[in-house]
Order: sequence, then C-alpha cells, then structure tokens
Amino acid sequence: MKPDPSPGPDDAAGPLHFSFLTLFPELLAPFAAEAILGKARARGLIEVDLINLRDFAENKHLKVDDTPYGGGAGMVIRVDVAARALKGLSARGLPPPDEVILFSPAGERFTQAHAEEWATKRHLAFLCGRYEGFDARTEALVTRELSVGDFVMMGGEAAAACVLEAVARLRPGVLGDAASHQDDSFSSGLLDYPEYTRPPEWEGRAVPEVLRGGNHAAIGRWRRERALERTLARRPDLLPGAALTPQDSADLLALGASAEQLAAWNAPAPPAPKRPRRRSGAGEPQEEASERVSGS
Ligand SMILES: C[S@@+](CC[C@H](N)C(=O)[O-])C[C@H]1O[C@@H](n2cnc3c(N)ncnc32)[C@H](O)[C@@H]1O
Repeated sequence: MKPDPSPGPDDAAGPLHFSFLTLFPELLAPFAAEAILGKARARGLIEVDLINLRDFAENKHLKVDDTPYGGGAGMVIRVDVAARALKGLSARGLPPPDEVILFSPAGERFTQAHAEEWATKRHLAFLCGRYEGFDARTEALVTRELSVGDFVMMGGEAAAACVLEAVARLRPGVLGDAASHQDDSFSSGLLDYPEYTRPPEWEGRAVPEVLRGGNHAAIGRWRRERALERTLARRPDLLPGAALTPQDSADLLALGASAEQLAAWNAPAPPAPKRPRRRSGAGEPQEEASERVSGS
C-alpha cells in the first residue's frame, strides 16, 4: 500500500475553501449540500462558496457575454466580468486562492494527482464556463485550465462537481476511514482490486476463497495481484507511473506482460510536458441581434 500522498494541512489551516464562480450556482448548491460533502461542510472541514458571475455584470440587463470577434456561432463570456468576479474574492475574507482554475475542454486533464495536491491547499477558485466559454484573455487571470475529459459539456458546473468530490474526499477527516482512499484506483498507481460482499455465493458465482479465509497477508497479496491484472488488462498506460516492486514485475510477467514492457514501465519517468501556449484573439466583434448559445 502506498503511503497517504497528501501530507494534510496543519491544524491551524482550517477548512479548505472552494470558490465556484458560475452563472448557475443553483446547479451546484444541492450537490454540495448532501451526503459526505454536506457533512464535511457542517463539520467545518470544507467550505463551498457559490458566486454568481452575473453579480459582476455592469450593465442594466446583467449581460455577461457577447458575440465573438471574427464571427461564428455562440456567445463568449466577457473577460472584464470574470476579472471583477475574481477580484471580488479578496473581499470575502478568505485566504488568497492557491489555484485559480478555468474549466475548459482544452485544459490539462484532471487526474488524481491534482486532487491529492489540492487537498492540501487552503483555497481553490474555479471559473465555470457556459456558451462558447470565456474570452481567451481570461486565461491570463488563472493559474491553469482544466478539463475533466475529452468531451464537451454545456457548462463547467458538472466539472466543478467532479473536482469538488475528488478533492474533498482526500481532505483529512472528510472520509470516516482515512485509509479508505489509499488503495483507490490511481491513488496506488494502479486500478483498484475487485471487492466482494455478502452473499458468499450468488447465482453460481462464489466470492474468491482467499477473501473468506482470514489470512491477511494472503488477502493483501491476492489484492495486489488482482490490481496488477486489472491494470494490465484495462489501463496499461498507468503502469509506467505505478512504482512497481520486484514482486509486482514478476507477477506482471506471469500475467502475460513482456520483458520489454516491464523494462519500459520501470524506466525513469520522462519530464512533464509543457503547458499549452495561450491563444490570442484579433479583429472586431461581429454584431449579432440574438444571444445565441452553443450547447446550452
Ligand atoms: C460548451 S462548453 C465550450 C466548449 C468550447 N467551445 C470548446 O469547444 O472547447 C462551455 C463550458 O463548459 C465547460 N466544459 C465543457 N466541457 C468541459 C470539459 N470536458 N472539461 C471541463 N470543462 C468543460 C467549460 O467551462 C466551457 O467553457
């Protein structure tokens, strides 16, 4: 089992604050109020601030978006609105954000490694897009852009819910059993091993004997082997980052991996790729009569 990667905040650090800047705070409010997240908030372990971007529109129709320069379908959220909303964070009496994150399908892919790092922070701020997303100049106001996968949603709120869940559960005290996330898929570098509960036999399918025997060393070995087997079959791309032991390597060979694959998986990791270059816009905005939206 890998040691808990998150050192955890010291006692004086207080809760982890999540600030979500969104046009639809009502989508996130019930999500953050229920189940373990609701309890974590009630216990003061996390705080969730839902900030309506529309509060930072400075026009009588509270319009936050406009037509894109260069033409094309959809509306774009204005950079001045995003900038005022982010500036407004400092008036809320919170620690300055450790990260200001813009949700975008073009961002770096969200992973468990982000969740582990951010669970140790004090304040994370997220900009949730809608329509065609934010004016590209908003990228200069954030520390990174984040995608939750290679698909396009109508807005950043569902992405925000994913990140809130993944980060908050790693905050010390949020889950009842601190060890319960340590063998989760990705935390250990591998996919999780299969789990079983009662009944011991169901429609001719029995729970593996070793799990019922009470030999904890044997159970630990079986679980590690099954995690290796699943990862080899389903996500071999994870194996280079999995910190394999000599026993793991022997097990993987027995499970059908080649010596060349093992040599590659055990090789030192290449340097992390550079962050994508920022884009810039040009030209004059095209006037459009209607507030067309894309995918919304
Ligand atoms: C309709 S999308 C904009 C898509 C944009 N035109 C593109 O193709 O990259 C509106 C907003 O949803 C959010 N969004 C959609 N898919 C996402 C994803 N896979 N990861 C993170 N955010 C996403 C972003 O905040 C985005 O600004």
